Amino acid sequence: MISAKQPMRESSSAIKNPTLNIVVLAAGQGKRMKSALPKVLHALAGKPMLAHVLETANQLVPDKICIVYGHGGETVRAAFADMPILWAKQDPQLGTGHAVLQAMPLLAQQTLAQQTEQQAITLVLYGDVPLIRAATLSKLITFAKQNTLAWLTMTVAEPTGLGRILRDKSGHVTAIVEDKDATDAQRNIHEINTGFLACPTAWLAKWLPGLNNSNAQGEYYLTDVLALAVAEGVAVQTLSPDAEFEIIGVNSKDQLAQLERVFQRENADRLLREGVSLIDPARLDVRGHLTFAEDVAIDVNCIFEGKVHLAANTKIGANCILRNCTVGAGTEVLPFSFIDGAEIGRNARVGPYARIRPGTTLADDVHIGNFVEVKASAVGVGSKANHLSYVGDTTVGKNVNIGAGTITCNYDGANKHRTVIEDNVHIGSDVQLIAPVVIGSGATIAAGTTVWKDAAAGELTLNQKTQMTIPNWKRPPKKTS
Ligand code: UD1
Ligand code: CA
Repeated sequence: MISAKQPMRESSSAIKNPTLNIVVLAAGQGKRMKSALPKVLHALAGKPMLAHVLETANQLVPDKICIVYGHGGETVRAAFADMPILWAKQDPQLGTGHAVLQAMPLLAQQTLAQQTEQQAITLVLYGDVPLIRAATLSKLITFAKQNTLAWLTMTVAEPTGLGRILRDKSGHVTAIVEDKDATDAQRNIHEINTGFLACPTAWLAKWLPGLNNSNAQGEYYLTDVLALAVAEGVAVQTLSPDAEFEIIGVNSKDQLAQLERVFQRENADRLLREGVSLIDPARLDVRGHLTFAEDVAIDVNCIFEGKVHLAANTKIGANCILRNCTVGAGTEVLPFSFIDGAEIGRNARVGPYARIRPGTTLADDVHIGNFVEVKASAVGVGSKANHLSYVGDTTVGKNVNIGAGTITCNYDGANKHRTVIEDNVHIGSDVQLIAPVVIGSGATIAAGTTVWKDAAAGELTLNQKTQMTIPNWKRPPKKTS
């Protein structure tokens, strides 16, 4: 929705290939989060709000990103230490205008006289407004390139607390008034300031030092640059985002939880459009990057974390958690399974109630059943561990059967050791394999055996045990009080 009230500038006045600066405000304390963690580091869909904003910012291919930080700022810097970001400290925090001013020296600003074809423009984003879309910001940038002050506004049902957009009789924007400074009449205005704006950097460099703090909050308001622009006769262009959630800021855990649901629902709807079958799009959480092939079906209450790939025709049962894993074509993960850091082959079956831990690869046609834990192990084609087992630090060959209750005893209290189970081995129930140990190809291990030496290929290995019957033995009677 582009306001038609102010005509776009002639394209001849457009700035060609300007440098794009993005300033992200992230200095606010976020007191209402009631947390020691800086507000912008609180996670939405598994990653910090600020990471969402930076991801969106990077989609715009900026030349510079400058984060204005303050309270708890060192933690924020540390969280993004590996990114090429400029950091401007704002201390003390004297308002949004003062915050953007702190970034200006880092943006290598040009004066108006120096405006050339390479002139820079600056876009202002917010570390606590995580769901703004790149498409919306692109529009702001397009207007800023045409030598306008482009400002994102929106007409909302509940404007309380927000800055209001003032317009003259012919509909031209004249100023923004903060809620605390507004008259009762102005408070009835429903067009609000989202805070997002873009314009030539040189204009901000000129206007920001001229702001004053004579207002209800004693702050240097970024919003006041709008009136300065109007006074100078600069063209102001307003536009609105497509969705209201794009402009919602997070001040409390309640708002964060609400935005989490918005994000998850949007994402689930996208997955449905792209062909994933979801029994209930309201009961899916993706906290990372989920990729998928055709005919994937996901039951309710599943959580996907990190990078997960689901190949064609995979089925994920209810209440599963999949983290950093790939699931091969035709594989079924049954309810209540937790798969973390694993690669699972084709036509395999995992669960219900399976736990697959990091460093595990399950080949094609593997079955891992209920209450089976597999850690840092490679399980070969067609092998099965269907019930109540621990398989850790183990190499399992092809077509191996691991009986119920089999435990690889991989830890001697000091070090972890490997178990090797070669092809076509059959392990009976309730067997302990004391690592390091090798079970030779085709070996059979009798039920109840404790294997502490390598088991010969092709042979039956068992422990001698005796079974006795004690005649006339009596179970002690229950005491009656
Ligand atoms: C601001 C706008 C208001 C708008 C609203 C949208 C101003 C003066 N007001 O109000 O018109 O409707 O956002 O949510 O801009 N920040 C700093 N340093 C500071 C102050 C703020 O970095 O000194 C950052 C905060 O971390 C936050 C953002 O700027 O990300 C907005 O600050 P906040 O105090 O929430 O602004 P509002 O008073 O809500
Ligand atoms: Ca706010």
